Amino acid sequence: MEQQYVIRGGKPLCGEVFVNGSKNAALGILAAAVMADENVTIDNIPDVQDINTLLDVIAKTGAMVKRIDRHKVMINGSTINNVEVKYNEMREIRGSYYLLGALLGKYRHSVVTLPGGCNIGSRPIDQHIKGFRALGAEVWIEGGNVIADAPKLVGSHIYLDMVSVGATINIMLAAALAEGKTVIENAAKEPHITDCANFLNAMGANIKGAGTDVIRIKGVSKLHGAEYSVIPDQIETGTFMMAAAVTRGDILIRNVIPKHLDSVSSKLREIGCDVYEYDDSIRVKCKNRTTHTHIKTLPYPGFPTDMQPQMAVALALSQGTSIVTESIFDNRFKYVDELVKMGAQIKVESNVAIIDGVMGLTGATLNALDLRAGAALVLAALTARGTTYLEKVCFVKRGYEDFDAKLRSLGAQIYLATNERELEKYSMIVLGDDRDKFRPEPERIMSQSKED
Ligand code: EPZ
Repeated sequence: MEQQYVIRGGKPLCGEVFVNGSKNAALGILAAAVMADENVTIDNIPDVQDINTLLDVIAKTGAMVKRIDRHKVMINGSTINNVEVKYNEMREIRGSYYLLGALLGKYRHSVVTLPGGCNIGSRPIDQHIKGFRALGAEVWIEGGNVIADAPKLVGSHIYLDMVSVGATINIMLAAALAEGKTVIENAAKEPHITDCANFLNAMGANIKGAGTDVIRIKGVSKLHGAEYSVIPDQIETGTFMMAAAVTRGDILIRNVIPKHLDSVSSKLREIGCDVYEYDDSIRVKCKNRTTHTHIKTLPYPGFPTDMQPQMAVALALSQGTSIVTESIFDNRFKYVDELVKMGAQIKVESNVAIIDGVMGLTGATLNALDLRAGAALVLAALTARGTTYLEKVCFVKRGYEDFDAKLRSLGAQIYLATNERELEKYSMIVLGDDRDKFRPEPERIMSQSKED
C-alpha cells in the first residue's frame, strides 16, 4: 500500500510551529558545495525527500557527504571522480540540474540526466542552456542527458528571456568560476537566489546584486570551505499561515523571515485575517469567514506560484467570487478536480480559476498530485466535514518535513498510514467521535474503562 494521510477536519488549528530550512535554497546550496575542495558545512537543511535524493546523487559523484545530524551536512568536493551524473533519481527532482552548472564551473565538463520535478506544466531549460553557451560552453541533449563542455568558461552578458529561478542559480554557479565578469539581466529575485549567492560568496565567490534583477559576478579561480545556515522555507511558512486562515485558527509560526511573506500576508489581510509580524515569527489569526479577492502569481516579490493552490483553498471557502491567475506554470490547476470532489465550486479556463466560495467542504478520497497541490488538499481536508484519505503522500514528503506531526501539534487530526493495518486503525481513530455518538451509553463506559 502506498502511504496515505487519514484526515478528519473541523478543528481550528492553534499553537506554535517551527519552520525548517528552505528546500529550494538548500538544493542550490548543496549543489554549489561540491565546487570547493575543502569541507563545507551546511546547517538548517530540511529533512525532506528532494534534499535526500540530491545528497544521494552528490555522493555518487565521489564527493564526501557526511550527515552530521538531521539538519546538518558536511560536503567535500575534493574526492569527486565522476562528473557524469546520469541516474534515475535525477529524473525525480528538479534541483539535480544545479549539478550541471556547479560541475561545469569547476571541471568545465558535466553530464546530467534531464531533471524531473513536479508535473506542473512544461518546464524547459533553454535559459540555462543559453546562459552556459554565453559563457563559452557547448551544450547539447543526448539520450535523456544534458551534456555541457567548455574548454574555457569566459564571463559574459546574459539577458534571461523570462525570469527563471533555476536558470539564474545555475548560471550563477558556472559563472562563479568563469574567467572575468558575468552580468545576468532579468534575473530572478527570490530569497533563495540571494541565499545561494551569499553561500557562494561565503566560499570566496564575488557575486553582487543578488535579490535585484541584475546580478554581477566576477569569476574567481577557486572556492574554499565555509560554514553556512540555509534560510527558513517561505513556502512552508506560507502553508501554515494558510492553515490558520482556512481552519479559522491562530498559529504562531517561528523561525521565519516575515519579509519573504509580504505578498501572502497582504492577501491574507485583504480577505480578513489578522497577520502580526515579529522579528523572526509571524502570527496569523482568523476568526470569521474570509472574503473573496483576486490573485495573480508572479516572480518574487509577487504572489508565489508555490502558494497558489493553498490560497485557492482559502478562497474556495471565502464569501464571494475570486479569480486566481497562474502566470508562471501552464498546468498548475490539476488539484481543482480534487477540490471539486470535496464540494468546491471552481471553474478553470486556461490559466485562470474562477472560484465561487462555498460554506464548507466534505471529506473524500483524493490524490496529492504534486507537492503544493498535496499540501493544499491537506488544508482543505482539515476544514472538511468527514474523513479524507489523501493518496500519493510521497509528493508532500518531497518538500514538507514532518508535515503531519507539525499539524497534529496544532490540534489537527491527521495520521500517516503506511500499511493496511494503520489505515484501519487511523480510520477508527478519526471516526471515533462519531461512533461514540451512536453507541449505546453502557458500551461507551465499558470500553472507556478497558482503555484506562
Ligand atoms: C523553481 O522551479 C522552484 N523549484 C519551483 O518550486 C517554483 O515553483 C519555481 O522556481 C517558481 O518560483 C526549485 O527551486 C527546485 P523557473 P524552476 O525556472 O527553477 C519557464 C516547489 O513546489 N522557464 O523559475 O523550474 C518555466 O517553464 C517547486 O517547490 C523556461 O521557459 O522554475 C516557468 O514557466 C515547484 N525556460 C518559468 O520559466 C527555462 O530555461 C519559471 O520557471 C527556465 C524556465
